[in-house]
Amino acid sequence: MILLDGKIASASVKEELKSMTDALVEAGKPLPHLVAILIGNNGASETYVASKVKNCEETGFKSTLIRFEQQVDEAELLAKIESLNQDDDVDGILVQLPLPQHISEQKIIEAIHPAKDVDGFHPSSVGKLVQGLPTFVPATPYGILLMLAHFNIPTKGKHAVVIGRSNIVGRPMSILLSSNIPQGNCTVTLCHSHTPNLAELCLQADIIVAALGKPEFVTPHMVKDGAVVIDVGITRVADTTAKKGFRIKGDVHFESVAPKCSAITPVPGGVGLMTIAGLLKNTMQAYINNRG
Ligand code: GUN
Repeated sequence: MILLDGKIASASVKEELKSMTDALVEAGKPLPHLVAILIGNNGASETYVASKVKNCEETGFKSTLIRFEQQVDEAELLAKIESLNQDDDVDGILVQLPLPQHISEQKIIEAIHPAKDVDGFHPSSVGKLVQGLPTFVPATPYGILLMLAHFNIPTKGKHAVVIGRSNIVGRPMSILLSSNIPQGNCTVTLCHSHTPNLAELCLQADIIVAALGKPEFVTPHMVKDGAVVIDVGITRVADTTAKKGFRIKGDVHFESVAPKCSAITPVPGGVGLMTIAGLLKNTMQAYINNRG
């Protein structure tokens, strides 16, 4: 069984990017610049954004964190995005989701200029992804592709079952795995909350991507021998014995599923780290496209 270690795969992506930023410094050029916008103080979002900023630093990127209080006006947020769209020193703009109820996620996503849409959530980016055109691939599916590439996991002709149809992970993942790209060419089944025979479908899968956000949902009776299992779940589950009062649980019951797999991602230390690698790659690509 291969442990698909996100620390190893993301370190390799970050090394490649660091050598690119080193060359930019050497040449006296500006550095790729990611701006992250964080609204309110959702604990998980705080952690993710802090990690994104830290990884920018480690890779030699410039980063700016802009915080707004939970009650911020939608108009104020839109005005800030517009000023970042106009700012030539900004390559990528990311608004951490979820947003407070009173703000339209769709409006915010559509306000980000597609050239700076390093999350790949703008309808223009999604449309290009579907058509197989060059675009920003959402960071988590992108990170999973980078992980599969790093560990040379074959995908061509395989049956992939993706559980979860979110715009952030499941839907784009299903499109990418079915696309004619190096980590694609799968036959894909996209399962969701209304799929009646989910366990039966999973049992037919060569590759399972679990992205439904239900801790330890995937159990051994759903996994065929030799399957590749990618766990996207990162749910905080209360645990009084843990220092922080919670533990991070994946969507897969790792201990019981891992022995059946040819390869599996751990949680934490798997897909989460690759998401950041995907975001950094997109930010570098935005820099190259816009001022490289
Ligand atoms: N919330 C959970 N995942 C993501 C992501 O990839 N990007 C943003 N902006 N918000 C998220």
